[in-house]
Formats: sequence, structure tokens, C-alpha cells
Amino acid sequence: MTQKKILTIPDPVLRKVSEPVKIVNAEIKKLMDDMLETMYAAPGIGLAAVQIGILKRIIVIDLSKEGEKKKPIFIVNPEIISKSSDLVSYEEGCLSIPGMSGLVKRYKKIKYEGFDMNGNIIKKEAEGLEARVVQHEYDHLMGILYTSRLVDEKAFGFSEEIEDFWKNQSKDKKDNNEFISS
Ligand code: CO
Repeated sequence: MTQKKILTIPDPVLRKVSEPVKIVNAEIKKLMDDMLETMYAAPGIGLAAVQIGILKRIIVIDLSKEGEKKKPIFIVNPEIISKSSDLVSYEEGCLSIPGMSGLVKRYKKIKYEGFDMNGNIIKKEAEGLEARVVQHEYDHLMGILYTSRLVDEKAFGFSEEIEDFWKNQSKDKKDNNEFISS
């Protein structure tokens, strides 16, 4: 496994659309291992291949908490096949936009499909943080960053300060003030 450099804004590669993976071979598995190592080192809970400069539709996610056993999820060619009608707002960060965070509305529940690291089909229902991270990473594959989805232009700032800002706003605008980076 090799730790790679994470591209940051305004690198134009981050705005490009990634290409589907044709076959999950040894090269793709090596890429997934490198992505995982890079994400753990950052540290982050999600990473798309484009963030290390590879325009392939691959994402890695690990939502395990510090000290818990690692639970990496690899998704090749992810597709979001259905979305709940309800949306939730939550603070997001991105390894490609270090030090910043913003409040973003996402679908509360989704169903997604894709392939795992052995090329087997995955069909999954997700909600909460998993649903949010899949939507965030899926956006990366479309060249979209969370800053395009802020609930309000004021809902973006330095991570250390934005939480205080939102604490002073009405409670219903925000579900909680946890911070995630993906
Ligand atoms: Co991101």
C-alpha cells in the first residue's frame, strides 16, 4: 500500500467526471488499497479516486470509530438507485478542502449499488452517516464538491469557527454539530 497525495482545491482535476471501471483487476485492487491507506492517514472517513488524481469511479469509506476494528467499504461504479423524500442537514468537511466545513443537505436514506473489491455486486440500503458519505463521494465522481450544495452561503467557513457560528443559529437548521471529513 502506498500513501498518495490528496488533491486540494482549486485543482481542476477535482471538477472532472470519473470514468466507470471496466474490470476489477489487480491494478484496481492496488489502487483501492492505496486509497484506503491515504484516507486512514489523512484521517478521513471517505475518499474518491479522483482525490488522488485517478479519474475512475471508485470510492472507499470507513465509518468505524477510533479504537474500533476497521470496517472498510469499497464501492466500484457506485449508483444511487433511490433516495428518501426527507433531507437532513449536517456539517461536512472534505479532505480536498482542508480546514473548512459547511452545512449540507443530503437525502436521509438511499439505496445504492456497485461492485466490491472482488467484483461482486453490492446492493445496499443506507441511512445516516453512511448515506451522507456515499452521496458526498458519489458527487466527487461527478466533479461536484460539497461547497456547491451548502444550505446557505453563510454555512461555510473555517471548521473551528463555523460550529460556533451555527450554535448561535436556530437549532432546527442543524441536526448536530459533528464534523466529518470525506
Ligand atoms: Co470530499
